[in-house]
Amino acid sequence: LLTIGVLVSGNGSNLQAIIDRIEDGTLPARIACVISNKADANALERAKRHGIPTHFLDHRAHAGRESYDAALAELLRSHGVRLVVLAGFMRIVTPILLGAFPHAVLNIHPALLPAFPGLHAQQQALQYGVKVSGCTVHFVDEGTDTGPIIIQAVVPVLDNDTEETLSARIQKEEHRIYPDAIHLFAKDRLTVEGRKVIVAPAP
Ligand code: GAR
Repeated sequence: LLTIGVLVSGNGSNLQAIIDRIEDGTLPARIACVISNKADANALERAKRHGIPTHFLDHRAHAGRESYDAALAELLRSHGVRLVVLAGFMRIVTPILLGAFPHAVLNIHPALLPAFPGLHAQQQALQYGVKVSGCTVHFVDEGTDTGPIIIQAVVPVLDNDTEETLSARIQKEEHRIYPDAIHLFAKDRLTVEGRKVIVAPAP
């Protein structure tokens, strides 16, 4: 069984979607721990409700990103984690974490990358005036939202959308494709070739 560690900062609706898919038997994985850089993240409450060990790891207690990521990697390792899942983890990760989990850190971003990387992707999409947006699950590399893409989903952008309505439409798709991408990883169906992720057909 694939052992995953989930890093969060906020509400944890993606964490919840992953938990739900594990509990309904459609995602062959086990969440060994949920780690937050925010003490009051709702995601920690969600994890506790499902009996998942939680940790608050305060980035303000570390001198720099490298030292924080070293502590993260050590904690994840101590839980036997093989796949690191960033689920609304609002921090840039360094080669320290990526080196500890090569080709084994995933992120979800609320836009169709490479459009609108970074913060406030939904607001960026509205301001640009695009007619479709969506979300992207990708392997994390050293850049900001630049890693090889695993799955994307598209949603319409409506004339009367606000950041809230567009975010909600995108999140519905996030909750479907993130567990799906983890499923592909769990079944060893993902191969990274340069920028591209090759998805092996289902057996
Ligand atoms: C999600 O919409 C995710 O795409 C976004 O944060 C939200 C977290 O929601 N991530 C980023 O913007 C990363 N730069 P959640 O805590 O309810 O899963």
